[in-house]
Amino acid sequence: MSSAEDLELLGAALERLRAGFADLPPADRPTDQAAIAQVLTEVADRLRDNYPYFHPLYAGQMLKPPHPVARLAYELALWINPNNHALDGGRASSAMEKEAVADLARMIGWDTHLGHLCGGGTMANLEALWVAGQLHPGATILASTQAHYTHRRITGLLSQPFEAIPCDRRGRMDVAALERRLAAGGVGTVVATIGTTATGAVDPLAAVLDLRSDYDFRVHADAAYGGYFLLADNLEPETRQAYDRLGDVASIAIDPHKHGLQPYGCGCVLFRDPSVGRLYRHDSPYTYYTSTELHLGEIGLECSRPGAAAVALWATQRLLPLVRNGEFAKGLSDGRAAALALHERLGQDDRFVTGGPPELDILVWAPRAGRVSDASNLSRRVFAQAAQRQLHLALASLPVHLFDVRDIERDRDTIICLRSVLMKPEHREWVERIWGILDEATRAAGVGASGGARPGH
Ligand SMILES: Cc1ncc(COP(=O)(O)O)c(C=O)c1O
Repeated sequence: MSSAEDLELLGAALERLRAGFADLPPADRPTDQAAIAQVLTEVADRLRDNYPYFHPLYAGQMLKPPHPVARLAYELALWINPNNHALDGGRASSAMEKEAVADLARMIGWDTHLGHLCGGGTMANLEALWVAGQLHPGATILASTQAHYTHRRITGLLSQPFEAIPCDRRGRMDVAALERRLAAGGVGTVVATIGTTATGAVDPLAAVLDLRSDYDFRVHADAAYGGYFLLADNLEPETRQAYDRLGDVASIAIDPHKHGLQPYGCGCVLFRDPSVGRLYRHDSPYTYYTSTELHLGEIGLECSRPGAAAVALWATQRLLPLVRNGEFAKGLSDGRAAALALHERLGQDDRFVTGGPPELDILVWAPRAGRVSDASNLSRRVFAQAAQRQLHLALASLPVHLFDVRDIERDRDTIICLRSVLMKPEHREWVERIWGILDEATRAAGVGASGGARPGH
């Protein structure tokens, strides 16, 4: 849809919204349109200094454009600018938040829940671990070495002890190591990552949950990135097994602003047991007076929050319901298919070493070289050469054991590799084009020429 068509839709919807307030005495303040136009031109010029996140050739970090309906609904809501802290500040948008969050909970398989939107994955995980810490004060919180760094920081903030559990070769929590740590005692909560930031690895959730028959601990799922893949129809069996048990965890962080087609500022935390709401209980001298109904600020740590984010999410889920085999689900499967296709290409080419097959839509690889340090340097060169050809990848520093580097001298424990997050459905059709540019960039970086050749092959 072109932006002119978008603006026409927005104009019509805005007229309808304004009509709802037509009985108020006029109070429009004049604005200097020419001055605004000038500033907007400057803004547009400033914003040109960006990578093209909206385009399929942007295949680097976790950045996915919001759906047009999300942008339009967000903008429409800004005319009201509701605040979902309390019903005092956002009546309709609070109701829409409760409905949209209930849809997310239903996707997990929960008919009852406690949950709300928040600033993002960091905030969602903070709330979940804050609740976990109150239920198991002073007990250790565990997450894998590939879990997002936010968990160590959050537990520091909460003054809860934290320890990292090693990962297997695919970047998933090592369950045997977890069991050894549980046996040593003092653990209150285990964070299972459902889609790690670096490689999209999914911790073996079923095995983690099964350990609760021998040890007493709470499981929180950090599904900030991967949660929505529950709906995908092309997961490998082990990954599917983890998703099939997602409903058995105590709490979940899931980010609509990652895979839910939302603008930034939209995370979500969900608790299976609604009674944890008691832990949030507080009085506010300023709010909660307009209604005896639940105000979202009564069950969240943040106060002011954008009601527009809830409206955008509600609108998106209305258009694209969270169901398996629906259009939204297909978009996720397409991204994963794209990642598998590119991984296969890379795996068949002697110039590269790859990480394990992608479990979601993230893949990592590095140019083959005599030593790990040389491979790291070549990764940087390919990254730069690809960017010159308008293909934007990402770089990551990861443990060498995640790669098949049997014939490479391990002069470092970590390797700087190339990383690509193929999270746009269009990536499926763009894989060949991406591969073509990558191939050119790899040649231009001198991979396979001097020192980059596979020894003994
Ligand atoms: C698994 C995971 N958890 C948490 C976060 C933090 O989320 P946010 O950046 O929305 O605060 C991220 C971000 O990439 C993530 O991938």
